[in-house]
Amino acid sequence: MIILSTSDQDLDRAAQAIQKGLLVVIPTETVYGLGANLWNRHALARVFEAKKRPSFDPLIVHIAKIGDMAEIADTSVPHALRLAERFWPGPLTMVLPKKEKVPELATSGLPTVAVRCPAHPVAMEIIRRSGVPVAAPSANPFGYLSPTRAEHVIAQLGDKVDFIVDGGRCKLGVESTVLDLSVNPPVVLRPGGLPVELLAELIPDIQVFGRSASSPKAPGQLPSHYAPRKALYLIPQGLVSEAGPRPATNSAILCFGQESCHKAKQTGLWAKVLDMSPGMDSVEAASVLFEYMHELDSRDYTEIWAELLPENGLGRAVNDRLYKASFKG
Ligand code: TXA
Ligand code: MG
Repeated sequence: MIILSTSDQDLDRAAQAIQKGLLVVIPTETVYGLGANLWNRHALARVFEAKKRPSFDPLIVHIAKIGDMAEIADTSVPHALRLAERFWPGPLTMVLPKKEKVPELATSGLPTVAVRCPAHPVAMEIIRRSGVPVAAPSANPFGYLSPTRAEHVIAQLGDKVDFIVDGGRCKLGVESTVLDLSVNPPVVLRPGGLPVELLAELIPDIQVFGRSASSPKAPGQLPSHYAPRKALYLIPQGLVSEAGPRPATNSAILCFGQESCHKAKQTGLWAKVLDMSPGMDSVEAASVLFEYMHELDSRDYTEIWAELLPENGLGRAVNDRLYKASFKG
């Protein structure tokens, strides 16, 4: 595995490697993605193998501009073009009827394809220079925490990929919002970096896939996902100091806001207290969530506890990750 910078020369190298069918990890504004040429079946197969990802979990296809959408998806479905114009490039993935030529391996045999145009200059430039659509799941082993730094990828998948482009820390820190436009009314399959409230302004009858649904349409919806190796326990927002929690000795807690942190410290129950956002800003909390979980998972704390956020804006995406990471199915 070779680590590349974001220099002009290295972007060329990364783009050529993708074009040739190699696996290249690229930074996006959400999380790092494990990129492969959509038209190269061998490369697609290696993506599943590297992640140990079940073949029934389809990939997101990344494009450099709106104009490239029509090559892979039916853009005539209601809302598709309007949403693309409003929110791309950005953390929105649209599930659309696929074009015939899109390999079934990428879509797990579904008649639909997930498409996203990332808002990261490095990702955009690599995709553009590669000249092909880039299939890219988050660059983590299946079920584990998503990577928001190149170091996370090196530790988790370093020996299974050809190149890692180090673009520093991913700004948003949670994956894109996945919206299924192939059904009516459209359904949010995964809350993410684009708040559902913004989508609802354009799609008043939008539905949000429930947390407890038992037959997931896509494994991002499987109850257990985005998980650290250690046990994770959740605490309702604002209830950090209530009598309930009895963490094991030497456990750590992620709190939301100064007040909760202060209370958590006062209880003396936790060996480590981390604040996801002192000012209770859900955007800030989303940006550090995976980073803090990686950090706590790699230290010798016994358990990880986390306080939930209010269920709005990016709080919805953070809570979704926390629920799935804590599921003991
Ligand atoms: O922010 C992101 O979306 C990141 C960066 C790298 O772009 N990518 C990412 O990919 O999170 P991944 O593979 O970890 O998650 C893709 C999600 C999965 O839940 C998958 O099941 C769903 O999108 N998905 C993909 N194609 C689908 C389809 N045709 N129908 C329904 N869900 C689909
Ligand atoms: Mg993922």
